[in-house]
Amino acid sequence: MGQPHPRDEADAGKPPLGIGMVGYAFMGAAHSQGWRTVGRVFDLPSRPVLAAVCGRDGQAVRAMAERHGWAAAETDWRALIARDDVDVVDICTPGDSHAEIAVAALAAGKHVLCEKPLANTVEEAEAMAAAGEQAYRQGRLTMVGFNYRRLPATSLARRMVREGRLGTLRHVRVTYLQDWLVDPEFPLTWRLRREVAGSGALGDLGAHIVDLAQYLAGEPLAGVSALTETFVRERPLPGGTTGGLAAVSAGGLGTVTVDDAALFTARFASGALATFEASRFATGRKNSLRIELNGERGSLAFDLERLNELAYHDHTEPLAHAGFRRILVTEPDHPYLEAWWPPGHGLGYEHTFVHQARDLVHAIAANHRPEPSFADGLQVQRVLAAVEESAAKNSVYTPVVV
Ligand SMILES: NC(=O)c1ccc[n+]([C@@H]2O[C@H](COP(=O)([O-])OP(=O)(O)OC[C@H]3O[C@@H](n4cnc5c(N)ncnc54)[C@H](O)[C@@H]3O)[C@@H](O)[C@H]2O)c1
Repeated sequence: MGQPHPRDEADAGKPPLGIGMVGYAFMGAAHSQGWRTVGRVFDLPSRPVLAAVCGRDGQAVRAMAERHGWAAAETDWRALIARDDVDVVDICTPGDSHAEIAVAALAAGKHVLCEKPLANTVEEAEAMAAAGEQAYRQGRLTMVGFNYRRLPATSLARRMVREGRLGTLRHVRVTYLQDWLVDPEFPLTWRLRREVAGSGALGDLGAHIVDLAQYLAGEPLAGVSALTETFVRERPLPGGTTGGLAAVSAGGLGTVTVDDAALFTARFASGALATFEASRFATGRKNSLRIELNGERGSLAFDLERLNELAYHDHTEPLAHAGFRRILVTEPDHPYLEAWWPPGHGLGYEHTFVHQARDLVHAIAANHRPEPSFADGLQVQRVLAAVEESAAKNSVYTPVVV
């Protein structure tokens, strides 16, 4: 046996916080990284323990538990939420199971972190938000996995907007583009089936950018005018998933029942205007999320492919030398960076999941409602529903239900 790690000693007196995770593939791996790393990097009020992971294939979930450091494996989520060593249920399954698992976990007295989009329908999201409200009165918290809020650069952008550096907001311009569906032979995985995923690019990518836009602007969207399209309507049936977004086909064809792309214009409650584009057909774009905000006093722009940077234009400077400049968001007083590396040593995608875990652990210790909560997730779901309603009615302007 070696000497105890100093961190282990520092953590020894802290109360354990048992994590139970459902779903163990793409997001399961990302969340595992977050839970495993968070207590090693940040000074936390409790000690997250990877208590148990759940999947339906016993052999596969045990292998995953071994690889990612989970103490136990379960094959039924009901058994997972019944465990005494689980305090937080972390839902990393497709949308068709979010509502059932979350509502049951809250009733069992657990805190719940749920991947986005919160649910597949507004009705499910309403039930989840109502269960979240009731649980909050008993000291149980809910959170939605809109992880792009938790990058140092996007958090800094929020701080700058809140400080008034953009002044009155006029425009928000957002695109979230991928290209993994360009090939018509790509199989009909769960993300292309409405009964499992709820919607297509809209719920998958659009949910992220609606949340990010509203978070950065600091206000909700009031209404939308939308177009959606399914470019390839039939695809080969899947034979298995090979990891991440990849899959192999088994032959035979099935019908795609979700959108491939969703475009919409929107109005914020203040009157600022926004444009959104979410597509899985943007050839050459892999995971390209860009957002720009223009206000009377300045502008901010963020590009996920350069995620340690923020572009800022201060319109109050003399015009002779004003212009967009690059802020390298790696200083210790930038959000989340006090615990990481020296300036200039950048972070990546996976760190968002560490920060998500950090924020939830602090919220639980302080009994302080985390953002985004299920109520925030419900509001995003209502925007998605307004987009679908508008698209079905030839893009007629559709208010978001408040
Ligand atoms: N925050 C992000 O950046 C991000 C990225 C990708 C996906 N997501 C979201 O995460 C969720 C999962 O997506 P993914 O890409 O990880 O999918 P995935 O296909 O990689 O993994 C889904 C997992 O859920 C398991 N599962 C499905 N139904 C289950 C059930 N009833 N009981 C137990 N396990 C079940 C599957 O076996 C698999 O392990 C979705 O809501 C998706 O929208 C978020």
